[in-house]
Amino acid sequence: MFEPLQPLPADSILGLIAEYRDDPRANKIDLGVGVYRNGLGETPILDVVKMAEGQLVDTQTSKAYLGTAGNPAFNAVMQQLIFADSGSIERMTTLQTPGGSGSLRVAASVLLRCNERATVWVSEPTWGNHVPLLGGAGVTLKPYAYYDSGRRVFRVDAMLESLQAVPKGDVVLLHACCHNPTGLDPTDAQWREICDVIVERELVPFIDMAYQGLAADVDTDAFVIRHLAGNVPEMIVSSSCSKNFGLYRDRVGTLSFLSADGRTLRALQSHASQVVRTMYSMPPDHGAAAVSMILNDPGLRGQWLDELNTMRKRLVEMRTLLCGGLQKSVPNHDFSHLEQANGMFCFLGVSPEQVNRLKSEFGIYMLVSSRINVAGITAVNVEYLTDSIAAVL
Ligand code: LMR
Repeated sequence: MFEPLQPLPADSILGLIAEYRDDPRANKIDLGVGVYRNGLGETPILDVVKMAEGQLVDTQTSKAYLGTAGNPAFNAVMQQLIFADSGSIERMTTLQTPGGSGSLRVAASVLLRCNERATVWVSEPTWGNHVPLLGGAGVTLKPYAYYDSGRRVFRVDAMLESLQAVPKGDVVLLHACCHNPTGLDPTDAQWREICDVIVERELVPFIDMAYQGLAADVDTDAFVIRHLAGNVPEMIVSSSCSKNFGLYRDRVGTLSFLSADGRTLRALQSHASQVVRTMYSMPPDHGAAAVSMILNDPGLRGQWLDELNTMRKRLVEMRTLLCGGLQKSVPNHDFSHLEQANGMFCFLGVSPEQVNRLKSEFGIYMLVSSRINVAGITAVNVEYLTDSIAAVL
């Protein structure tokens, strides 16, 4: 039975984890998968998460099933974190999902139940897993313009023009903040223009927010969601707690729907519930229970925001360090675009051949597109990194 299967190439992002792990060089640098690292190159559990987990172990009285939508307290507090008071609560529902990816996958199945030929427009480029994940579920994907690879800038004019041509009723996937892979986000004024086109053309916004709090702060980063919630009848939001709570392997995320009215909302909830039941039955509880404990306790919430701010600041510092180092090592190249980016990612702007040389000759790992995760940079490795980049240039 299994014989017809041929081995597939490794995933373009996750494959790098194993390659890096198996590289024996002591000076290797991991700028690949999107995980936060501290100044020692480690991805520690947040202190606040450790505290919440401790409390959870002491106070949790049951591990009985919770149901397809997961933990109601988590869903309520996450809805507040994402939407604040922007949307009408009667038209909104939020369910806990296995990470942001699980959320995207459930959303895709629900979309297909609404329209078996559902089309989702994605930015060009977009997160490497958006296309296989949503496309694999069966939705049709089409690209809209986003990035000018020559000038290395976000092109709002081109994006608006693309969206003007999207047929009424189609779905548009937007990255709320820290665009993956470019790191380049619209300003609030640009978001307003984008939203105007969405409203005018009656498109359905589908927002992926995997990095809330890592661009500016948790409220600013949710601007587009909150702005849209007050202006559109229907919307989908996927969110992830992988990065901002450091809960990568616990798989904590949400899926929210905004529907035109209460009747539609009830139908939507029943379909989402059935999709979940037939796909994975229900989400894992532990990480979501910890997040719920943190966000519902003012002291723990404050500590979380402090730790999140520390992560965000380190990402900014590492970008600055990289740019400064590159200016010294490669003075004839302009790398100023790196400093315009938010969050973990940006394109270094080197060719696939140079990416391969950085890996094979210097043990420096990044995506073949030259997307780097600046969290992998430290005060100790930056010189080796910039010298290596200079060598391949
Ligand atoms: C990334 O883009 O590196 C992260 O979102 C991790 C992943 O699952 O791809």
